Amino acid sequence: MPTGKDHRVPRIIDFSVNLHALMAAAPADLPSPIRQFADAQALAAPDMAAVDALIRARLASDVVLINQIAEHIIAGGGKRLRPMLVLLAAQAADYRGRDHVLLAAVVEFIHTATLLHDDVVDESDLRRGRRTANALWGNAASVLVGDFLYSRSFQMMVDAQDMRVMRILADTTNRIAEGEVLQLLNIHNPNVDEAAYLRVIERKTAVLFSAATRLGGLLGGLPPVQEEALASFGLNLGFAFQIADDMLDYVSDAGTLGKNIGDDLAEGKATLPLIYAIERSDPARAASLRRAIETGGLDSLDNIVAAIRDSGALERARARAQDFADAASAALSTLPQTPACAALRVLAGYALQRSH
Ligand code: IPE
Ligand code: IPE
Ligand code: MG
Ligand code: MG
Repeated sequence: MPTGKDHRVPRIIDFSVNLHALMAAAPADLPSPIRQFADAQALAAPDMAAVDALIRARLASDVVLINQIAEHIIAGGGKRLRPMLVLLAAQAADYRGRDHVLLAAVVEFIHTATLLHDDVVDESDLRRGRRTANALWGNAASVLVGDFLYSRSFQMMVDAQDMRVMRILADTTNRIAEGEVLQLLNIHNPNVDEAAYLRVIERKTAVLFSAATRLGGLLGGLPPVQEEALASFGLNLGFAFQIADDMLDYVSDAGTLGKNIGDDLAEGKATLPLIYAIERSDPARAASLRRAIETGGLDSLDNIVAAIRDSGALERARARAQDFADAASAALSTLPQTPACAALRVLAGYALQRSH
């Protein structure tokens, strides 16, 4: 079992900016009883139980290692946000069938496959509060079980017997792969700017959120304008969610986040807080931030966190994420204002308030 990165295991940065204060308050005065993440979860709960059962049933393989690894990562939990988006979007579209459960499980399988691959690429050793599959079983096994989950998701989506569903999911997984490769090309490049960063996170993260909400609308047979509105909601939410994730990578702690902080810096990945810090720091400090991206590693993590804090980069990144969350909520205005629609709006706020 690799132990080479123990210096990165739970570590709390003494960080004087309170992320939760930064992440601002809950959406104000919603005209519905759906006000908090727990309310949104409760609305999706009956369907989510069916999704969880389906996930368990479809993880099975007679290859023992597949069961072990897939079980390890699935049992680690996760927020189940993407399947929740499918379920709530289907509710918002007044869908009365059962395929939303199937597609929610498909989307979570795709997400889980990307996590297995991502942790290999990022050399991460903590996920969902557990050692990663790559740390426990090695890179080869993680990649191959990721492939198993991807291909299982394709076996499952065929059951929906809808060519549009298959096209959306095929296009989405292909775009995710492009995003991951694009990100790889940007590693150790201190010239990555906000636009380049947004191009990566659109593909690696936002398109799956968008597919999740679009699929719910499609199942409900919404008119194209409303289906697009749900897709736009998901896309904008995905941007906000990834920006928040990239902030948490600097300001959270492993115990709360369930992932090691500093992973992005360690691999020389320029994310929005760092990009903004470079833009707003004095030349000497900016040069040291650029060097940290070029070399990677965590030796200068404390200095980098200080630079991110001093430059106002966190506030600016948070404001950018808020813009996306606001755009997500605004996209919902063309939909009937049902409890499910209110729940989706709550999730837009949650993307920024979340602690893990
Ligand atoms: C992690 O996604 C990958 C990103 C897009 C940041 P989540 O934060 O949704 O991971 P889980 O499923 O809850 O563990
Ligand atoms: C998200 O990026 C990865 C995918 C969308 C697959 P990160 O690398 O930031 O995700 P975490 O932080 O490892 O969950
Ligand atoms: Mg990662
Ligand atoms: Mg991250």
